[in-house]
Amino acid sequence: INKINFVNEPVLKYEKGSPERIELEKELKAMKTSFADIPVIIGGKEIRTGNKGSCILPHNKNMVIGEFHKASKKEVEMAVEEALKAKKEWEKMNWQSRVAIFLRAAELLSGPWRAKFNAATMLIQSKTYKQAEIDSACELADFFRYNASCLPQIYAEQPISPDKIWNKIEYRPLEGFIYAVTPFNFTAIAGNLPCAPAMTGNVVVWKPASVAVYTAYIIYQLLKEAGLPDGVINFVPGNADEISDVVLKNEHLSGIHFTGSTKVFHNMWTAVGNNISNYRSFPRIVGETGGKDFIVVHNSANIHSASRGIIEGAFEYQGQKCSAASRVYVARSIWPSIKEIIIKKAADIKVGDVEEIDTFMGAVIDQKSFNNIKNYIDYVKNSDEAEILFGGSCDDSKGYFVDPTIILTKNPHFKTMKEEIFGPVLTIYVYDDEKFEETLDLVDSTTNYGLTGAIFAKDRYAINAAEEKLVNAAGNFYVNDRPTGAVVGQQPFGGARQSGTNDKAGSKINLMRWISPRVVKETL
Ligand code: ALA
Repeated sequence: INKINFVNEPVLKYEKGSPERIELEKELKAMKTSFADIPVIIGGKEIRTGNKGSCILPHNKNMVIGEFHKASKKEVEMAVEEALKAKKEWEKMNWQSRVAIFLRAAELLSGPWRAKFNAATMLIQSKTYKQAEIDSACELADFFRYNASCLPQIYAEQPISPDKIWNKIEYRPLEGFIYAVTPFNFTAIAGNLPCAPAMTGNVVVWKPASVAVYTAYIIYQLLKEAGLPDGVINFVPGNADEISDVVLKNEHLSGIHFTGSTKVFHNMWTAVGNNISNYRSFPRIVGETGGKDFIVVHNSANIHSASRGIIEGAFEYQGQKCSAASRVYVARSIWPSIKEIIIKKAADIKVGDVEEIDTFMGAVIDQKSFNNIKNYIDYVKNSDEAEILFGGSCDDSKGYFVDPTIILTKNPHFKTMKEEIFGPVLTIYVYDDEKFEETLDLVDSTTNYGLTGAIFAKDRYAINAAEEKLVNAAGNFYVNDRPTGAVVGQQPFGGARQSGTNDKAGSKINLMRWISPRVVKETL
């Protein structure tokens, strides 16, 4: 059986005058001076419904670089039908041929399509050069290649066959179709959610996040260029409730691959539960949802790496990574030093236009998100349980800009220690050094999320205690590093509890969810 050797796509630096920077600048300019008209795509056919949404730059909200057509119920029904039609040929194709398409897509991402991906992510999702490079083209190429490298391992496993008996396992796709619902915050995740099931022979109805349809459309075009047959993935942007209402009631729904909010995921489970006796099979539900990700700083920590971890973990991509640090517990004896360093680092953060190479934070994604974050900051301003140590200003006159904001509270159960904000807002609680173990219990019990977390410590007992006590509090746990930036193939990503089904994006565990094996015994 074939072996696919996996190596992560090298991350480029975009230094002034470098070929990658020149290429990217060309692409940024081209996107800003043209206007995209993005269709619904069903069975490879482009449909323009006329009911349109806009593609807006969050850091320059008056700049619109395209429009997208929204699918109505009729198009969603057609998408399911076309997916099921395409399934007949697609599931018969041998896996080596299917994988070739995604490996080809990865090659295009390494080369000619990289600039387009990164430029779109910078403009539409307001990511900096660095974040766009890591989180879009490179990571999606990694997902394609890593998942491809898992398949031969999965398919190679066969049962034993004693004398006069021949047993085999066929690794079949699920019957029916998969519904992929993708987020705005990582272009790579938006690509992986429809593609992981497709790679294992499934067909997909794909609803991309409305604020990131522009980049999702480029993913679709990449797949087409790489040779993905029509109808395998059907592209249906539009109103989430309306689309889900049709898809989740369809008897052929066989799986959901979701990244988004816990609330939306709850609604999907409820809808599936309400319809459970009408499906031909039990839908596999795979989701990564919210988080209230933490950092614990022990008194043995290196204060410089802890401070860097806090700032990068909380404020990279404006705190809009699902993995972003948003509650921090610092030992009292080192708090004065940490406080001084993080305030200085926060003051050095440049917030603004993502096309300027030294910008560290762009804008948050849209008006709704801006208003939500501002409400939390206003709540803190009016509270006597917390104070703002740094930041706290918001300005939506040009784009949706929020300053990196650091809050200090004496109440470990304060609102901003518990609720997901999805913005550049970090809350700190200072604990007494001798109460380290109790603090770990507090970290574990304060929220019902379990996505990411980190400990900074040199003391091995402290590290081990944190690993043990926080076993369910973070599906991805980091020792002496920030809780963001999982790399495909190195730290498979996903959380437990109310943060998701923990089926680790970019792993055999995830791919197995899209496989329905059949065992055949033949008596010889
Ligand atoms: N790969 C992303 C992170 O870990 C989800 O931040």
